Amino acid sequence: MREALLQAVNITKIFEGKTRVEALRSIDLAINQGEYVAILGPSGCGKTTLLRIFAGLTKPTTGKCTFLGEEINKPNRQRALVFQDPRLFPWLTVRGNIELAIKKQAFIEANERIVELCKKMQLSEFMYSYPHELSGGMAKRVALARALAGDPKLLLLDEPLAHLDKNIQLSLLNELHRLWKDGLTSVLVTHDVDEALMLATRIIILSARPAQIIANQQISLPFPRDPLDGEFVQLKEKIMKINSGVGEPE
Ligand SMILES: Nc1ncnc2c1ncn2[C@@H]1O[C@H](COP(=O)(O)OP(=O)(O)OP(=O)(O)O)[C@@H](O)[C@H]1O
Ligand SMILES: [Mg+2]
Repeated sequence: MREALLQAVNITKIFEGKTRVEALRSIDLAINQGEYVAILGPSGCGKTTLLRIFAGLTKPTTGKCTFLGEEINKPNRQRALVFQDPRLFPWLTVRGNIELAIKKQAFIEANERIVELCKKMQLSEFMYSYPHELSGGMAKRVALARALAGDPKLLLLDEPLAHLDKNIQLSLLNELHRLWKDGLTSVLVTHDVDEALMLATRIIILSARPAQIIANQQISLPFPRDPLDGEFVQLKEKIMKINSGVGEPE
């Protein structure tokens, strides 16, 4: 059998703070090269925690998570996480924020790469703008460009389209699809079933806390996908039913 790109084996995560929170319980998940895995689940169930474990920013309490067969114990550019909020450095321009993520490359090479990423993310005009001069959608694009600058093998996306207007959502959605089509294995955390169905080749549904996997649905609809297509609508109903059974997101 082919080795999974990322493999989580019996992961649990318990936060021992003022209140003890069991966020994840017995998560087993293998993500293969070429997949687009969407993760749905109610608010506060542990989706971000799971992505942070994949990124190497949080350690599971028990269980093991490996990337290309090696245990994940620290962040690595090969697994790029785009956070729920863009987290740009306010004192750096768009260019500066992207440049930070580029490995020590020769100046000309780095410059070419930044120009190319800005073009891809439709940011060329704003390369010298500061984060406070950007719209929410543009800031998300910079965060995405910064993640791509490290040439990741796995893109981890935490609600990348949330709180954006419809047109911007659609253009970013197309961009996320293109990145996957060009070979970038992706994991998308979202509250939005339509978004998951537009992009994913597999949808995982998590229960309310402690999050456990309650559904693992392969999505083999051809691309481009149409939300009005009969099969799309049927799958949406099925997934909404399972998802709403575990509580509506906020
Ligand atoms: N560093 C932390 N310390 C203590 N508890 C935490 C920490 N991070 C997350 N939690 C708790 O773990 C649970 C899961 O949080 P998480 O952010 O993973 O949920 P989520 O599914 O991403 O929620 P949302 O959909 O609202 O983004 C929550 O109860 C949260 O309070
Ligand atoms: Mg979250």
